[in-house]
Amino acid sequence: MPGIYIHVPFCRHKCSYCDFVSFPDKIDYAEAYMACLYKELKMRGDELKNYEFDTVYFGGGTPSYIPPKLILGAMNQIRKCFRLKKDAEVTLELNPGTIGEAKVQTYLQAGINRFSIGLQTAIDEQLADLGRIHNARDYVYATKLLKGQNFSTDVMLGLKNQTKEDVRKTIELAATCGSTHISMYALTVEDGTPIYTDYLNGELPDSDEVAELYDFGRKLLEEKGFKRYEVSNFAKEGFESRHNLNYWKRGEYIGVGVSASSFMQGKRFTNTFDLDEYMKCIISGFYPAVTSEEVSEKDAKFEFVMLALRTKYGVSMNEYKAKFGSSLAEDFPNALKKSVKYLDLNGDVITIKDEYLYVQNSILMPFIEEIEQ
Ligand SMILES: C[S@@+](CC[C@H](N)C(=O)[O-])C[C@H]1O[C@@H](n2cnc3c(N)ncnc32)[C@H](O)[C@@H]1O
Ligand code: SF4
Repeated sequence: MPGIYIHVPFCRHKCSYCDFVSFPDKIDYAEAYMACLYKELKMRGDELKNYEFDTVYFGGGTPSYIPPKLILGAMNQIRKCFRLKKDAEVTLELNPGTIGEAKVQTYLQAGINRFSIGLQTAIDEQLADLGRIHNARDYVYATKLLKGQNFSTDVMLGLKNQTKEDVRKTIELAATCGSTHISMYALTVEDGTPIYTDYLNGELPDSDEVAELYDFGRKLLEEKGFKRYEVSNFAKEGFESRHNLNYWKRGEYIGVGVSASSFMQGKRFTNTFDLDEYMKCIISGFYPAVTSEEVSEKDAKFEFVMLALRTKYGVSMNEYKAKFGSSLAEDFPNALKKSVKYLDLNGDVITIKDEYLYVQNSILMPFIEEIEQ
């Protein structure tokens, strides 16, 4: 069942590694921006009357930075313009440096029932080095405010001077503070971000060191009852993210706001990354799309396999055949042969062996090569 993604592009400060569409100096636009976003919700909702939606996800940027009444307004608008399942999962991303008691009350009133907190690391010097606006104590305070709520914590690996002991402290803090879900991402260094200089100077751990940190973190998470269900995502039983699972199943979703992407009715489209242009287009009643493409059957097949293999649920060969009319073995005979030692077969389901999940990109290479022939 499809999901709704809402992009809130404001942050108090830009983190040194961040390549998301997020503006550190434009909070004054928040009210006008959200008014445009409500209008886009109405425009999209009018076209999707026949759909029922299962999840809503407020991402960013920092959705917890803007006045919380604007989140409440967005939820009211979503309920007015879309058919939302009664027990929909509604997630809000939250930066620990931007939260207070009154905000949490408004979120609960809006129907937010899942929070995703960006801790990144429990080591204050590393947080400062990343340009984060919070320290570890702010995280503890945020989790106290969310006591009894369902929340996930984001952790990052591959930071300057990060040791296994730092990863242990970070995971232990996230676990003892009550997270039901932990995402553990390896730092991606994008050209153009300030952290790129550290990368060029050789100050960041190399990929083998990051793989070691990951392996250490994965084992610790599993000891603490967080089961890996996707390369970077670990959850207590029953707390997997429904919104993200839908992405990995190649399900449909509608993205609203600047830079938001959608995948509906076989088409993928993305809104403009330019805040002013986004607002101007919406005010004039146009969709501010920068790209729109029909996904070819070839690409659809590869995407289906690639996304499913990221998860512990793997690719069901029966589902593949029912979806595409041809079998996985007919479409990818060579790739399957080349990757056989990395794969497990259980009934009709193929998964990547546990120990190889982290290096799945190299396992997927033969699949790309074969589909492109
Ligand atoms: C949009 S941010 C989360 C909300 C909020 N903006 C924050 O940072 O606290 C989503 C998550 O993506 C991860 N992330 C962002 N940039 C990353 C990068 N360059 N490499 C790896 N992970 C990254 C971080 O863990 C971050 O918490
Ligand atoms: S708070 Fe999140 S979205 Fe904002 S700059 Fe930092 S990582 Fe990027």
